[in-house]
Amino acid sequence: PVDDSTSLLDALPYPVGVAVTANTVQGDSLELLNQHFNQVTPENFMKPEAWYNDDHSFVDENAEADAVMDWAQANGGRVYGHVLVWHSQTPDWLFQHEDGTFLSGDSEADRQELRERMRTHINNVAKYLSDKYGLFGSDTNPLVAFDVVNEVITDGPSPETDGLRNSYWYQILGEEFIDDAFIYANEAFNSTYAAPGAEHPVTLFINEYNTQYGTDASSKTGRYHALIERLVDRGVPIDGVGHQFHAWLDDDVEGFGAAMSAFDDLPLVQAVTELDVPTRTGTPVDTQTLLDQGRFYQRLFEMFAEQDAKRDLFSVTLWGLVDSGSWRFYEGDPLLFDPYYHGKWGYAAAVGQE
Ligand code: XIL
Repeated sequence: PVDDSTSLLDALPYPVGVAVTANTVQGDSLELLNQHFNQVTPENFMKPEAWYNDDHSFVDENAEADAVMDWAQANGGRVYGHVLVWHSQTPDWLFQHEDGTFLSGDSEADRQELRERMRTHINNVAKYLSDKYGLFGSDTNPLVAFDVVNEVITDGPSPETDGLRNSYWYQILGEEFIDDAFIYANEAFNSTYAAPGAEHPVTLFINEYNTQYGTDASSKTGRYHALIERLVDRGVPIDGVGHQFHAWLDDDVEGFGAAMSAFDDLPLVQAVTELDVPTRTGTPVDTQTLLDQGRFYQRLFEMFAEQDAKRDLFSVTLWGLVDSGSWRFYEGDPLLFDPYYHGKWGYAAAVGQE
C-alpha cells in the first residue's frame, strides 16, 4: 500500500542521513540508499577502537571507513563523522601506563600524557581522512561534521560531577577534557588539514541520548544545556548540538520538540543524529502497531519541519537503513524501511502520503 517512488530528499527540507556499515554502501541496498539519503554516518568504523591495531599502533588502512567515504565521494553525499572522544568502544590502554595501571588525575604528568594522547588520536584521524580524500573543504573530501564528544551527561542528577559522566576521561582530566577535545578537533579538521580558503569545513558537534524526557534544570537536557552554555561561555569551538533520539513508540512525542527548542537560546546548529523508534513489542510487529509507528514518525517529521523553519537543521539521521540491520531490531522494527527495502508507514509519513 505504500508508494515508494518519492525520495525522502524531495520531501524533506534538510539533509537526510543514515547510519551505514561497509555493506550498506554497496550491493543490494545501494539503490535504496542513493534514492533517499544524501548523508551517511559510519555506524561503528570511525569510533576510537576502529583506528587501532592490536599492538596499539594507528591503522594503515581502515577499509570500512574508506567504504563510507568512497560512497559519499562517488555519489555527491556527505559524511557525518562519529566519534572522536567517547567512553565506549574505546581501548582501555588509552588511559593506562605501559604496566596496565591507570593514569592518575592527581599527577600533572599523567594528565598531560592523556591530553597528548587525545590530541594525537584526533590529529591521526584527521590526517588519515585528508591524506586519502584531500584536505577538508576541498571538492574531493565529503566529510562535513564530526561528533567530537558523545554521551558525556549523566542519566540522573549528579552535582558532584557537575552532571558529567564519571568516565576515564572525566576521572583523569575533569570537565576540561571536553574543552580539549573541541580545541584539538578544531585545530586538526578546520586548520591543519583544511583546504586553503575553506572556511571552517567541518562542523563540530556534541552528541547525547535521552534528551526527550524533559528540559528543566533537574533533567538530563537541563544538564546538557548547562554544560554547553559553559563551553560557549569559555569560547570553546563547539558548533552543534546533537540529539540521538533513540526513541520508543510509547514516548511522549511532545518531548522531542521540547528538547530541540530548549537550545534556541544558544548560537549553535542542531542535528538529529541517531533516530530510531522501536515499538517495544519485539518482532514480528503487527499491522496496527506499525500504523501507530507511522503516526509517531509523522508527528516527528512535522516537528523537524517546524524546527528547520525556525533555524535550519544541520541534518536528520536515521540509525540504520532497514529494520533487520538495526541494533534495536528485536525491540520492534524501528526504522523507515523493511528488510525487503520497502517503505513502511513511517516512510510514507515522511514523504507526506496520508
Ligand atoms: C551502536 C551501534 O549501532 C552498534 O552496532 C554497536 O554495537 C554499539 O553502538 N549511541 C551512539 C552509537 O552514539 O554509536 C551507538 O551505536 C548507539 C548509541
